[in-house]
Amino acid sequence: MKILVVFVVMVLFCDCVMTKECTNTPTQLSSHTYRYALLNSKNKTLKQEVLTLSSHDHDHLTPTDDSAWASLLPRKVLKQEDEFSWMMMYRQMKNNNGGSGKVRDSGSFLNEVFLGDVRLDSDSIHGQAQQTNLEYLMLLDGDNLVWSFRKTAGLPTPGVAYGGWESPNQELRGHFVGHYLSATAMMWASTGNDTLKKKMTAVVSALGECQEKMGTGYLSAFPSEFFDRFEAVQPVWAPYYTIHKIMAGLVDQYVFAGNDQALKMVTQMADYFYKRVQNVITKYTIERHWRSLNEETGGMNDVMYRLYTITGNANHLLLAHLFDKPCFLGLLAIKADELSGFHANTHIPIVVGAQRRYEVTGDPLYKEIGTFFMETVNSSHS
Ligand SMILES: *[C@@H]1O[C@H](CO)[C@@H](O)[C@H](O)[C@H]1NC(C)=O
Ligand SMILES: *[C@@H]1O[C@H](CO)[C@@H](O)[C@H](O)[C@H]1NC(C)=O
Ligand SMILES: *[C@@H]1O[C@H](CO)[C@@H](O)[C@H](O)[C@H]1NC(C)=O
Repeated sequence: MKILVVFVVMVLFCDCVMTKECTNTPTQLSSHTYRYALLNSKNKTLKQEVLTLSSHDHDHLTPTDDSAWASLLPRKVLKQEDEFSWMMMYRQMKNNNGGSGKVRDSGSFLNEVFLGDVRLDSDSIHGQAQQTNLEYLMLLDGDNLVWSFRKTAGLPTPGVAYGGWESPNQELRGHFVGHYLSATAMMWASTGNDTLKKKMTAVVSALGECQEKMGTGYLSAFPSEFFDRFEAVQPVWAPYYTIHKIMAGLVDQYVFAGNDQALKMVTQMADYFYKRVQNVITKYTIERHWRSLNEETGGMNDVMYRLYTITGNANHLLLAHLFDKPCFLGLLAIKADELSGFHANTHIPIVVGAQRRYEVTGDPLYKEIGTFFMETVNSSHS
């Protein structure tokens, strides 16, 4: 049965070459609590054992027609860039009806009411909860939030870093700052509190200085070396998970608070990561990229689809597709109830991104994926 399922997935998703199966069935490492304890543990033997084990995943790669296409690459095309375009031309031909290469109009949806047009009654339970949330956000200190970003960029570091997940020795540092950017943007839109707006805008500009100092478009509270490990399928703790939070935070600052600098910054990040993924595909293979996705990548697809709707840049759409984890979405596409055992925090954002793909491109397969997922979880996994 497994073999049949995998075969069907390959046929349906043959635009992607996949490992036999998603390898991200939960290991101890799927638990953030466990990883946190492990990385903080002084037991070197334990660390070595667990982290080397997790990189011993040598699944046999199943070649598909992508490989066949690659071997047709015209000999005179030598530049890596062209090789990448060659593969992408193929993907587009297969993915778009009639090979027009044009994104279809998506269906019509309910219109979201803009947060700025809604005010809660301050005496209601929701109004009170909002006020508590606002006061909490006001407590957070900008210098403390961006401490590790400045450190990474080699800038002076006033203040002190926050602890816990944000502490300077945590591989996930920086993701909370992304949440902060989203939360403050939405809070500002919902309340119009300008003290908060000043604070959040100062955080965006401080991050902008870090990005400028690094000079490549990269923006993170940890060095880009984490992505070398990610791309080499070596143990590293979910660097794209954190990048997704930061990018989503910047998109929210633009969408909810009209901060143009935030849009410029997130666009530069997208261009940086586009180049990185392109580099993996041209230097190695697209299989290598798919394999790396077995490490948690948050909602990279989702934020890239959102960004694409703003920029209309085809590279942003492509990068979104490249985070639509095929070995997982493929199972949903053929309506296989194989959800058990998949790490929820890793895979739910991918399905959210798949649903966004439908909303952005109108591709009905992705509507089915989202609907099937909801029905399955609701009927038999909750
Ligand atoms: C460290 O981990 C190893 C391997 O799991 C274990 O055998 C050993 O007892 C641990 N040492 C301590 C001091 O906990
Ligand atoms: C923003 O909210 C805080 C916390 O409720 C409050 O102290 C401050 O006066 C508000 N600022 C503005 C401009 O309304
Ligand atoms: C979830 O299940 C309940 C009970 O069967 C049903 O009433 C509801 O419509 C379902 N919701 C979705 C989103 O499928």
